[in-house]
Amino acid sequence: MKISIVSFLVSACVAVGVSAKMVPGYNQTRRPQVHFSPPVNFMNDPNGLFYYNGTYHMYYQYNPTGITAGNQHWGHATSDDLYHWHNQAIALSPESPDEGIFSGSAVVDVDNTSGFFGNQSSSNPGIVAIYTLNTPSKETQNIAYSTDGGYTFTKYSGNPVIDIDSNQFRDPKVIWHADTKKWVMAVALPTQFSVVFYTSSDLKTWEKASTFSHHGWLGNQFECPNLVQVPVHNSQQQNSGEYKWVLVISVNPGAPQGGSFTQFFPGEFDGTHFTPEDDAARWVDFGKDNYAMQFFYGTQNKTLGVGWASNWQYTNIVPTSPWRSAMTLPRQYALWNDPVLSWQFISNPTDMSTIMKKNLFSGKVTKSQNIKLGDGSGAYYFDIYVSQDQGQATQRANFTFISSSTKEELRIGLLMDNGPFFFIDRSGTKGFDYPLFTDKFATIQYGGIGGWHVYGVLDKMILETFLNEGEQSATTTYFSNGVLDKLSISLDSGLSATVNVTALSSGWDQ
Ligand code: FRU
Repeated sequence: MKISIVSFLVSACVAVGVSAKMVPGYNQTRRPQVHFSPPVNFMNDPNGLFYYNGTYHMYYQYNPTGITAGNQHWGHATSDDLYHWHNQAIALSPESPDEGIFSGSAVVDVDNTSGFFGNQSSSNPGIVAIYTLNTPSKETQNIAYSTDGGYTFTKYSGNPVIDIDSNQFRDPKVIWHADTKKWVMAVALPTQFSVVFYTSSDLKTWEKASTFSHHGWLGNQFECPNLVQVPVHNSQQQNSGEYKWVLVISVNPGAPQGGSFTQFFPGEFDGTHFTPEDDAARWVDFGKDNYAMQFFYGTQNKTLGVGWASNWQYTNIVPTSPWRSAMTLPRQYALWNDPVLSWQFISNPTDMSTIMKKNLFSGKVTKSQNIKLGDGSGAYYFDIYVSQDQGQATQRANFTFISSSTKEELRIGLLMDNGPFFFIDRSGTKGFDYPLFTDKFATIQYGGIGGWHVYGVLDKMILETFLNEGEQSATTTYFSNGVLDKLSISLDSGLSATVNVTALSSGWDQ
C-alpha cells in the first residue's frame, strides 16, 4: 500500500507539534476550532466511521495533492471524545492516477467472519473497510482489511467484491444485522434514484436482497445511503426504550434549496427489505451545509453520526486555505413522532464537556444586551430560551454575532409574523460572494418546553443551530473577513430571553 509523501509530511508535522499548545496549521482566521477539518487540502464525505475500545475512527474523502475535489483517497483521524482529533496517515490510496477511492464504510469483524484475521486475538479484532473503487469505466465495491486497528489496510486480492458493470454504483455502508446474523450493505445506484441492499456472511461474497427506489425527494442523484437503528423518544426528550430503523439518503445535485442535502426515512427493516413509514421526504437539516452524513459503527445503543459541512454547489471555491471543508459537530440521534410535525430526526451535539471552557454570560435579557465574546478559541456555545410574555403578531428577537472591526454580522432569530419562524441570515458576512451561496434560511419553530429553545455552536466558519431539544437543526457555513467578537441581542417588547454563552477551548489544543 502506498502512503503519499504529503500524508507522511502532514503526519510528521503533527507528531512534532504534540508538545505545542495547538496543532500547527490550525490557527487561521477561518479555521474551525471544534469542528474537524483536515490539516491541508480538500476533504469531503466522512467515511468508515467506527468506534472500538475507547477510540473513534473517522476516515474521509481526501485529495492529498490539491485544494479542490479529485484524486480521492481516504484520509484518517482518531479521537477519544469526538472534539480533540489526531491526524493519522492516509489509510487508503489509489493504485494509479485514474483510480479514486470513493466513499464507503468500515466494520469491526469481531468474529473473524471474513477469515482475514486468523491469528488475531479477540481483544484486537480486525477492521474491514468497504469502499467504492471509481475508474473511468466503472464503479465497483471493494474491501480492504486492517490487522492494526484501522491504521493501515491491505486491499483484498479478490477485489472487486461486487461488480455490476455500472459507472453509477457507489457508497457502500455496511452494518451487522443481529437478527439474521448477516452483514447488510446499503449502496446507491445514484442515477436510478435507488438504494440496493445486499447481504453477506463473510464480507467477500454478496447477495442482492432488494431495491428501494423512487422514494422521497429525488433530486438528480441518490448518494451515500445509511441504514441505522435509532432510539425512539416518546417526547422530545424522553427515551421510550424502543428502536426504529432509519434509512438516510443524500441527494446531490438537486436538493430543495439547491445542491446537496440529506433526507431520512423512518421505517422497518427485516434483514432484506426496508419498508418506510410513508413516502414523505424529510430533511435532516434545514441549512445547506450538511451532506453525506454517516453513522458510527460500534456505538452500541447510541446512534452517533457526522456529516460533511459543505455543499457541492460551492465547496470548491469557498475562501479557506490551505484546506477546504470541515465536518459537522458529532451528533447523537433519536426519532420522535411529533403529533404536529410527524417524524422528526432529533439530533444534538454529543457531550461537549471536554471543550467547555468559560461561561461568558448567564442571565435574563428583557430588551437588549451586548455580550463580549472572547477567552477561548473563537468557538462558543450558546443556549437561549425565548419566551413571549405578551403576544403581538409581529414581534422579533434578534441574536446577532458581530465583528467589531469589520461590522460584519451573522444573525439568527425568531420572527412571530404568521410563524413563528426561526431564521438564519448569513448575508452580512462579506468574505464570499457567490449567487448559489444562499444567504437566508428559515423554518417554522413551534414553542417547546419553556419557550422557544435555540442553542448551538458558533465556530469560525460554521454556525450550527439546534431548535427545541434538537427537533430541527441547521448547519451553516459563513465566511467573514473579521472575527465575530460580540453577540448583540435585541428583543421587541413582550419578549424576554434566558441566555447562556460559554467560550469553548480548541479541539486542536494538545
Ligand atoms: C458524495 C460523493 C460520493 C462519492 C464521493 C466522491 O459527496 O459524490 O457519492 O463516493 O463523493 O468523493
